[in-house]
Amino acid sequence: MGEIILQVNHLSKSFGSHEVLRDIDFTVKKGDVTSIIGASGSGKSTLLRCINLLEIPSGGEVIFHGENVAGRHMDPCAYRSKVGMVFQSFNLFSNMTVLENCMVGQTKVLKKSYGTARENAMKYLERVGMAPYINAKPRQLSGGQKQRVAIARALAMEPEVLLFDEPTSALDPEMVGEVLEVMRGLAADGMTMLVVTHEMAFAKDVSNHVVFMAGGVICEQGSPADVFGNPQRQETKDFLARFRNN
Ligand SMILES: Nc1ncnc2c1ncn2[C@@H]1O[C@H](COP(=O)(O)OP(=O)(O)OP(=O)(O)O)[C@@H](O)[C@H]1O
Ligand SMILES: [Mg+2]
Repeated sequence: MGEIILQVNHLSKSFGSHEVLRDIDFTVKKGDVTSIIGASGSGKSTLLRCINLLEIPSGGEVIFHGENVAGRHMDPCAYRSKVGMVFQSFNLFSNMTVLENCMVGQTKVLKKSYGTARENAMKYLERVGMAPYINAKPRQLSGGQKQRVAIARALAMEPEVLLFDEPTSALDPEMVGEVLEVMRGLAADGMTMLVVTHEMAFAKDVSNHVVFMAGGVICEQGSPADVFGNPQRQETKDFLARFRNN
C-alpha cells in the first residue's frame, strides 16, 4: 500500500446559500490515478479547485502529508507547486513562448536558476513531444499542442500530485488521443493523478480508483471494476447508461 498523500475529510463548499459540495471524503495514495466522474454541475471542478486552494472550502479538511492546507497558514503558490493543475482551457500565458511558460513557475516560485529551469523545461517538453515548438506562442498551437504544453508546464514544477479538470473537453476530437496518450504515460510512470473526466475508457482502463459525484456528494466510489462493472447505486447506473447510449 502506498503512502497517503492527500486526504479530503468532510469537505463542503457553498457559494452564498448554494451548497455545491457536501461531506466529501476520499484518500489519494502515492501512485493512485483517481478519476472523478459525474454529471455537469455535480461539483467536480469545485472539488478540484478546493483541493488546489483556488476556492476556500467552507468546511472540512484537505490534508496534504498530514497538514490541513485549508487552514490559514499555507502559502498557496508553494502548495500549488506540489499539487499542480491542468485546466480544460489550458490557461497558458499568451504573451510568453512555450519555453517561457514552462520556466516561469520554476524561476519565480521555486527560485531555480535560468539554466536549471530551462533544462528542466526542455526535459518535460520533450516528454510531451513539444520540444520542437519552444519558441512558439500559444496562439500558434493547436488545442492538443497547447494542452501538452500545459502538462509539461505542470510537470516542470515536479509536483507530487497532478489535478486535471477535463483536460480533453475543449479539444477537437482528433486531438483528444494525443493528450490522453501523454496522461496514460504519466500514469504508467507512477505519477499520482486526480482526473475529472468524461472519458469513460480512460477512467476504466487507467485509473485505479473512481469517484462518482452527483448533486455535490460522492454517490459511489471504488475500483473501476466495481463502479463500472457492478455499480451499487441507481444514480451511478443511470449515469453510466447515458454514456453507453451516447
Ligand atoms: N464561483 C461560483 N459561484 C457560484 N456558483 C458556482 C461557482 N462555481 C461553481 N458554482 C456552482 O457550483 C455547482 C457545481 O459546479 P462545478 O463547476 O463544480 O460542476 P462540474 O461538475 O465541474 O460541472 P461540469 O461538468 O459542467 O464542468 C454549479 O451549480 C455551479 O453553478
Ligand atoms: Mg467542471
